Amino acid sequence: MIINVDYYPIIDEEYRRYLNMNSDMKDYWLLEQTLYTGMGRRDLIKTLPIPIMGKALDLGSGYGAMAIDMAFSMPIQVYSTDFEEDKVEVAKVIAEQVDRRVNYLKPGEIFFKKANIYELDFEDNTFDFVISRFLFQHLKDPAKAFSEIYRVLKPGGIVCTIDVDESFAFSYPETPAYEALYAAFKKMQEMNGGDRQIGRKLPTMLRENNFVDIYTQVDMQSGYEYTATGDIAHRFIRERFLAARNEIVEKSIMSADEFDQWIEKFNEEVELWQFTASGQVVAFARKMN
Ligand SMILES: C[S@@+](CC[C@H](N)C(=O)[O-])C[C@H]1O[C@@H](n2cnc3c(N)ncnc32)[C@H](O)[C@@H]1O
Repeated sequence: MIINVDYYPIIDEEYRRYLNMNSDMKDYWLLEQTLYTGMGRRDLIKTLPIPIMGKALDLGSGYGAMAIDMAFSMPIQVYSTDFEEDKVEVAKVIAEQVDRRVNYLKPGEIFFKKANIYELDFEDNTFDFVISRFLFQHLKDPAKAFSEIYRVLKPGGIVCTIDVDESFAFSYPETPAYEALYAAFKKMQEMNGGDRQIGRKLPTMLRENNFVDIYTQVDMQSGYEYTATGDIAHRFIRERFLAARNEIVEKSIMSADEFDQWIEKFNEEVELWQFTASGQVVAFARKMN
C-alpha cells in the first residue's frame, strides 16, 4: 500500500502545539517521546500489512500517535484505544485539529475509545490488524491480553506487537546516575507486574496463544552524540524518571533524598560524547484462517 506522508509534519505541529500549551499535563514525557520517536514509528508504518479499507486497532495507544499516523497516511479505518480516558481525549483533540487543517478523513475513518486490553468491547472477528506498541511491558497478564487480541482479530488477521527488551540497550561511556535511576524505574515496573525483558518473550507468547506464521525483527537505533544540558533526549528521560519519583519512594525502592541526589547527578552527567544503542522487538503473527 502506498503511504501518504504529506500530513506527518502537520501532525507533529499539532502535537508540539498541544505540548507547548499543556506543560503541566500528566505523562508529558510520553507526548515528548511521541514527537522524538516519530521517524522510527513511521518507518515501521511503511511495513504494516494492512489491507486497503481494512479495520485496524491500536491498543494502549497513549496519545494516539501510531493510530493518527496510520489514519492520515492509509485508506483504512483505525480504532485508537487506551484504558486512560484522558489520553484517549487528547488523541481525539489532536486528530480533530489535524483534520481541520487538511480535511482528509472521511467519516468513520478514525475512532477513539477507552478500552482495557483485558476486556475489549469489540465483537469476535472484527479487525484485520491489531497493533500494540510499548504496552506489553506494563502488563501483569500478557497471555490474557493475547487471547483478547486473538478473539477480536478476523481469521487470517495480523497482530503486531512492539516492545522493549533491555538487553538491546547499552551505552559507552557509562553514566552511573542514569544507571541508578533506570534500575529504580525498572524495579518499580516489575513491582507493578511489568517486564522490561518482554521483547524476547513475545514470540513464545504468541505461539502459546495459537498464533501462527510468527515473524520477528529487532529495530535498533544508535547514535554517537554530544549531550548538552537541556537537550531533548536528556530532558525527556529526566521527565520520565521524575514522573516516577513518588511511586519509587512510596514503594521504598529509593528514599526521596537518594532519588533527588541521583537526579542532581543525572543533570551533571551531560556535556559528554556518548555512544548509545537501543532496540525493540517487533513481532508479527497471524490468526489461523
Ligand atoms: C508507554 S505507553 C505507549 C503509548 C503508545 N502505544 C506509544 O507507542 O507511544 C503505554 C500505554 O499503555 C496504556 N495501558 C497500560 N495498561 C493498559 C491496559 N491494561 N489496557 C489498555 N491500555 C493500557 C497506558 O495508559 C499507556 O498509555
